[in-house]
Amino acid sequence: MKNYIKHHEWQIIEEGFDPHLNRISESLFSLGNGRMGQRANFEEEYTGDTHQGSYVAGVYYPDKTRVGWWKNGYPEYFAKVLNAPAWIGIHIKIGRVSLDLAKCKVTDFRRVLDMKQGLLHRSFTASLPGGKKLKIDAKRFCSMADGEVGAIRYSVTPVNFSSAATITLSIDADVVNKDSNYDEKFWTEISKESSAGLSLVTAETKKTFFHVATGMTYSITSDGKAVKGKVKASRREQYADNEVTIRLKIGVETVIYKYGVVLSSENHPKPKLAQLAKKKLKDIRTKGYDKLFATHADVWANTWQKCDITIEGDAAAQQGIRFNIFQLMQTYTGADERLNIGPKGFTGEKYGGSTYWDTEAYCLPFYLGTSDPKVARNLLVYRHKHLQKAIENGAKLGFTDGAALYPMVTMNGEECHNEWEITFEEIHRNGAIAYAIFDYIRYTGDEEYLFEFGLEVLIGISRFWAQRVNWSADKQKYVMLGVTGPNEYENNSSNNWYTNMFAVWTLNYTLKAVEQVRKRNTARYDKILAKAKFNEKTELAKWKDIADKMYFPEDKQRGVFLQQDGFLDKELLTVKDLRPQDRPLNQKWSWDRILRSCFIKQADVLQGFYFFEEQFSKDQLKRNFDFYEPMTVHESSLSPCVHVILASKLGYKEKAYEMYLRTSRLDLDDYNNDTEDGCHITSMAGTWMSVVKGFGGMRVNDGKIHLTPYIPDQWKS
Ligand code: BGC
Repeated sequence: MKNYIKHHEWQIIEEGFDPHLNRISESLFSLGNGRMGQRANFEEEYTGDTHQGSYVAGVYYPDKTRVGWWKNGYPEYFAKVLNAPAWIGIHIKIGRVSLDLAKCKVTDFRRVLDMKQGLLHRSFTASLPGGKKLKIDAKRFCSMADGEVGAIRYSVTPVNFSSAATITLSIDADVVNKDSNYDEKFWTEISKESSAGLSLVTAETKKTFFHVATGMTYSITSDGKAVKGKVKASRREQYADNEVTIRLKIGVETVIYKYGVVLSSENHPKPKLAQLAKKKLKDIRTKGYDKLFATHADVWANTWQKCDITIEGDAAAQQGIRFNIFQLMQTYTGADERLNIGPKGFTGEKYGGSTYWDTEAYCLPFYLGTSDPKVARNLLVYRHKHLQKAIENGAKLGFTDGAALYPMVTMNGEECHNEWEITFEEIHRNGAIAYAIFDYIRYTGDEEYLFEFGLEVLIGISRFWAQRVNWSADKQKYVMLGVTGPNEYENNSSNNWYTNMFAVWTLNYTLKAVEQVRKRNTARYDKILAKAKFNEKTELAKWKDIADKMYFPEDKQRGVFLQQDGFLDKELLTVKDLRPQDRPLNQKWSWDRILRSCFIKQADVLQGFYFFEEQFSKDQLKRNFDFYEPMTVHESSLSPCVHVILASKLGYKEKAYEMYLRTSRLDLDDYNNDTEDGCHITSMAGTWMSVVKGFGGMRVNDGKIHLTPYIPDQWKS
């Protein structure tokens, strides 16, 4: 755990430059606007340790799968969110010496992410080798008003010298992914141009053939007056720049305004991309930095009005929740139903930037509670569009007749995850996707969604559950074998209670949904029947039979449900029994040791108590919480928030608060020692749920909002 971010209600603040923390800060101070985003890399040259990252929503590369031993059913590729051409570069050279924080003495370094306005602000004084001192003040944003636009205000003031300086303003498409499986480069150049005042590179992704045009223009002022300088526009492979030579005067501020555009063929015809990018560059330069910033900040003001949470008396908690909301809102705006939310958003490459069950189980409630219903609806439509692919995915594994298994990880509906115990066995994701339909309709009352899209998805998923279970003659019950539940520290188990619960819940909900659509929209119902080749009589009867006769492992004596068959054969230890040097288990223990242990990566049975709380008494919750929570190591970021919600319900205030800090400051304090890879964007929605569903006790049921609020003792309000 680190503790270098200053507590502040609206700002993320880093004071002093510590190169060892740079990758973490690059993640934390990331910017985005739903269409593009970037890590908080420096504009100027930096030869120290850094993870350069710019990303464009929806633009990915199918990197050929790499596994030790191929298994039938494995996907051909893992979809990677691509490190995309960067538009932020502003390199400063005085004589032969570059401004490079790895080679300067840096004082008064301050980096601030102003979450109220979506602005990254960095200031410092650099003493260059040779003794020349410069004051830098750099501001940058990715416009929330126009997702294809970003701007930088970069101010340079010489402290103790006057001299000529060259300022290189670049577009760099020569970028790589650190997680590339075969050390390949993923982009090829289509065209580039560079003339005084403009540089533009259009690049194409290999295999997927997305085109992205990235361009820049700029203006420079000295002491408030425009300066042109001597301009040399140059190009080389996948790169274009303007090198501007101007004179810097001691004590006089020179400001470089750099405007960037990023246009993708997902939104424009390929042949027009470069031309449209140039037009946009001209328009935004005419508007100027201040106006662009004002419209961007207005969007943030409106957003905050709808979704802010204010906590009084606890700056760390306040900063935590706002940071989480800020990151979510700049990752996904809901404007485009083709997009989704990668676990790292625009803050890093890990997890490929693809869609996981995190979206339905965690992010959906956040957007339902904070945004226009269209936003959540788009997340659901995304899965509806992938239904055919989910059916094909099921077919690859041997399922038939329209049984849909949604992928564990996907970019375009195809499975791209390749660890057999997860790809084939972590099937609970299908449950969360079905539940999201129910949750959306219960929040919004948008029954039409069920008619138009929802029922088809539910039928596909129910067919999958019906084929995935088998009748146990021994138990005289339906069972489900070879499953991995949410707790990934347990693989290939039988009768994971949570997954069995979800199978039954989905079947029952689909039975009701079928009835509802049949009664309320017969015409549509008939169409769905025909399209899905739905055999009403036999399929419904089978589903009901499974729902009525499913097996659930349970220990009646302890009054707890068992995570899976045989759980009680384990040596039942608690996390307190672990030595600090053994944590985190996933970095310190062999996989075999983890699998045999009782330790739980993330809520599993308790995740079921979260989803299906109305089926259980408080006493049942207490017994299960008291049994499982002490064994839980929370090594998935998705875990603590669920515990806040349940602990709040039980009145375990201290536990709830401890878990809240852990979820809300997970990245700010780098709890899991992995923030340098990027922020845990999807679990940030869990932080919101901790406050709203945990401390606020909010539920939406029977068309009403129910609240059972309390606040942690550490808060004033
Ligand atoms: C968790 C999964 C989650 C994934 C992406 C894993 O560590 O165990 O539940 O979907 O991360 O966030």
